[in-house]
Amino acid sequence: MPKFYVTTPIFYLNAKPHIGHAYSVTIADVLARWHRLKGDDTFFLTGTDEHGEKVEKKAAELGISPQEHVDRLSAEWKEAWKKLNISNDDFIRTTELRHEKAVKHFVKLMHDNGDIYEGVYEGWYCTSDETFIPESQLADGKCPECGKEVRKLKEETYYFRLSRYQEHLLEYYKQNPNFILPKKRAAEIINRVNDGLKDLSMTRPSVRWGIPFQFNDKHTIYVWVDALVNYLSAQGWPDKEPKYWPADVQIVGKDIVWFHTVIWPAMLISAGFKPPKSVLVTGHFISEGKKMSKSIGNVADPTELVNKYSADSLRYFLMRELPLGDDGDFSEKLLAERNNNELAADLGNLVFRVLTLSSKFEGKLEGKPALESSMDLKAFQEAMDRYDTYKALEIIWRFIKAANKYINDTKPWELQGSELANALYNSIEAIRVIAILISPFMPAAADSINKQLGIPSGRFEDCKFSRIDYIPKKGAPLFKKIE
Ligand code: MSP
Repeated sequence: MPKFYVTTPIFYLNAKPHIGHAYSVTIADVLARWHRLKGDDTFFLTGTDEHGEKVEKKAAELGISPQEHVDRLSAEWKEAWKKLNISNDDFIRTTELRHEKAVKHFVKLMHDNGDIYEGVYEGWYCTSDETFIPESQLADGKCPECGKEVRKLKEETYYFRLSRYQEHLLEYYKQNPNFILPKKRAAEIINRVNDGLKDLSMTRPSVRWGIPFQFNDKHTIYVWVDALVNYLSAQGWPDKEPKYWPADVQIVGKDIVWFHTVIWPAMLISAGFKPPKSVLVTGHFISEGKKMSKSIGNVADPTELVNKYSADSLRYFLMRELPLGDDGDFSEKLLAERNNNELAADLGNLVFRVLTLSSKFEGKLEGKPALESSMDLKAFQEAMDRYDTYKALEIIWRFIKAANKYINDTKPWELQGSELANALYNSIEAIRVIAILISPFMPAAADSINKQLGIPSGRFEDCKFSRIDYIPKKGAPLFKKIE
């Protein structure tokens, strides 16, 4: 059985999830559900990034211990993903013992490989992004990524010999043209690596809220080095060999590409592992023309939107709004429009109409598969296997529109006998196939269609039109319109 391992970034616990975080986790969920639909042995991991200066400061502001703070917030994140119908197989927290053990072992392997040495770091640090920033990259004296204030550091540290991996990485990129996806994202990284790599400061003497560095307990391990290891620690490593490694696809936002396509693969090679097969770089949702941020006050809360619309509506919107890798706007107006036009009208009405008509029909539902060729299953599968969920939805929607047009053109309400049976046969088989195809995106709507058809959930191989040996019930609305 083919294996499939998909991961999301693990999320910082300085605030509640917003729509951008929901986007990362939904794309991963859709891919995991797609691979289960194909019958693959699938593992889907998400979790929370709980150490570091940012969390330490946030807890101090709240007057509680860092542990209390992360316990509270990680529970909120778990709950939010449950509401969004996220089907992760595990949820890793970096404050768990299993993780701490894996990080220490990983660092030991890097050390045994001669890749860790003592030095001094003098330069800038952005606490918000937990990133060291070379002077030359500052933008007007601020963090080039998030625009926030940076702080000058001069501290003893241990370095990871990242510079040693320049050639390895360039070779890996060359041998694996699908490593950075979409491909247009690769050139920038490759150019930067070509320009040379600086060693990475990987311990912090001034941060207490972290995993102790075993070779000098006055230091804790830099939060990014700690966090990246989650992808292995959740597999029970080092107690057992990771069953799903290398990962098939690691989903990351555009702000954390360097960590996942340069630092992480170099760490992996240093510790004797293969890099992941692909890193999928997703774009950002912006809101009112600006980056979403709590301080600007333009963040949308996924749980509130799920309550008002539905998990399926929000999931659909997130997957439908941004072409793979691009940025785009979030606004509730756009969400409501898609909910009303594409879900309640195109899809919901199709199912309702077909089942209402068929419930009045008393003969045998049989005919010739005329509508089947309107669904390009090959193109759909190719898009999904390229992780292009946006494109895949477009292909499904072409089929939904074709099914609606078929009904409008054949006018079953004017037909009788075998002609009516044929029109209904095609319409019902179309919605059965649609339920299979939308199931990774909108699992509740798919379940509801199957229930109305009186069948169990299908697999991808069931997408061929076949004999109707089930008895459809009367239609029920799938989505509600929201004004
Ligand atoms: N903790 C690190 C990741 C460590 S992985 C070993 C981190 N966390 S984060 O919570 O700040 O971001 C998590 C993910 O959410 C990132 O991929 C980031 O790009 C993504 N997003 C944050 N804001 C976003 C939008 N507005 N839109 C889309 N994705 C967004 O980085």
